[in-house]
Amino acid sequence: MTSFATHPALRHYWHAVARGSGVTASPVAVRLLGTDLVLWRAEDGQLGALVDRCPHREAPLSAGSVRRGCIECPYHGWQFDVSGTCVLVPSSGPGAPVPPKAHQPPVHVTERYGLVWLCLDDPVAGVPEISQDADPAFRRINFDVDVWHTAATRMVDNFLDITHFPYVHRASFGSAAQLEVPHFELGDLGDWYGYAYSVTAANPAAGTAASGQTTSTVQRHMSSGFALPFAVRSTIEYETGLQHILLLVSTPRDDDSSWFTFVVWRNDDFSVPADDVTRLDRMIEAEDKRMLEKVGGTLPLDNVGVVSVQADKASVEWRRQLRALLA
Ligand code: FES
Ligand SMILES: [Fe+2]
Repeated sequence: MTSFATHPALRHYWHAVARGSGVTASPVAVRLLGTDLVLWRAEDGQLGALVDRCPHREAPLSAGSVRRGCIECPYHGWQFDVSGTCVLVPSSGPGAPVPPKAHQPPVHVTERYGLVWLCLDDPVAGVPEISQDADPAFRRINFDVDVWHTAATRMVDNFLDITHFPYVHRASFGSAAQLEVPHFELGDLGDWYGYAYSVTAANPAAGTAASGQTTSTVQRHMSSGFALPFAVRSTIEYETGLQHILLLVSTPRDDDSSWFTFVVWRNDDFSVPADDVTRLDRMIEAEDKRMLEKVGGTLPLDNVGVVSVQADKASVEWRRQLRALLA
């Protein structure tokens, strides 16, 4: 089977691989689209990102250390700055010319929403837009970036799907969800493409801090939308006007393992601790991860090999657009 994660088209998009606060003056090894990379942060806050292979004898730079903002190879001490320029070959002595081929092309790196995003080739699109990030009425809550042993395609499919709520999420909020999904239309949701819907959701003890209500069920006006290739935004608005926005990040490490994190924005009064208002989200995340790690392989992007119904149409449309992007 051909690999989807190493498809060249995906190299032109931004992918989140780490939490910004997790990248300091110690090298961090990350795998993205089948490529091993090293990340580090210089004293002035700039991020460095290079392929994790020293051009001298191919040692992993991530096993080295950071000195004066440069990454130093653990094998013979060659140093590279954040632009990929080889600034020191110790065996040649300071000031000696460096072989031109020692300089490494830097990987595009940016920091947004508390996450480090990489693009392995020239970007053709920006980091997906979350307008609430610039709105002072909202606070942002970040979590660590974890590895899920499943394909990113299965994750996006899951995050666009509401019909698993009564099964996978029965223990968290899904017990009050209706099995039957009413007809919905796909359309533009600002910078996202997807659908809006309303649900009656169970409001368990773990969720009362998030909903700001203590009734046994709550009404949620929700939307689920995607931005190619793998970003999903889920919005929840309660009848009180409280909004809870989730960015669900799925990044292929390779075909069958992925980085996952989510970012939350809320227009509450910021008084309830972040851990409390996201307890339900973290339960839901664990439920999805448990389910998806039982499903092997990548999700077929065409309609051969899997059967879809009307309620799957958001995922069917996302897969159609992803196929076009990869074509
Ligand atoms: S392998 Fe990196 S300096 Fe020799
Ligand atoms: Fe889910």
